[in-house]
Amino acid sequence: MEIPNSVEKVLLDEETIAARVGELAAQISADYADNDGLILIGVLKGAFIFLADLARRLTVSHHVDFIALSSYNRGTANAGAVRLIMDTRTSVTGQHVLVVEDIVDTGCTLHYLLRTFHARKPASLRSCVLLSKPDRRQIEVQVDYLGFEIPNAWVVGYGLDYADRFRTLPYIGELRREAYE
Ligand code: IMP
Repeated sequence: MEIPNSVEKVLLDEETIAARVGELAAQISADYADNDGLILIGVLKGAFIFLADLARRLTVSHHVDFIALSSYNRGTANAGAVRLIMDTRTSVTGQHVLVVEDIVDTGCTLHYLLRTFHARKPASLRSCVLLSKPDRRQIEVQVDYLGFEIPNAWVVGYGLDYADRFRTLPYIGELRREAYE
């Protein structure tokens, strides 16, 4: 696969991602083996590829739903406030909810999501996040299943974007700083 000029380097290649997603799916399948009513809630748009791969490797029955939130408006400047754009179709009350997110940066988005779902009284509530940038954290959030910790850089591919570009790159690459600073 060709690497676009704006991508500085490949951080996680396809094989590395697939192997880790398989491990996460195995762990989740073991943990939810005795639970009925698991709902995976993917956070649009960034988590759509991660969720698709993860869900297909689960060996426990589950439903899939989505939620959409406001993302950073221009490039990487965090607007701070999180806004709900599209809610789930199914009710999560009494269900085992697993929020599937692409990346935790400041923690604001996941914090908002967990607070929102907690208020709806699910049977249980956990989060599964592919990437975390711990150096950027402003709010401590609960991440139950984590794919990779990464350094503080803007990453794209495997669902993650910069200004809605690069989402379908099969790997996760670091964007050149000149492209967003
Ligand atoms: P937080 O609320 O600061 O934790 O940001 C979470 C959201 O910011 C993620 O769901 C992404 O949409 C976006 N985001 C943060 N860092 C990156 C990145 O490096 N690449 C792409 N999107 C990112």
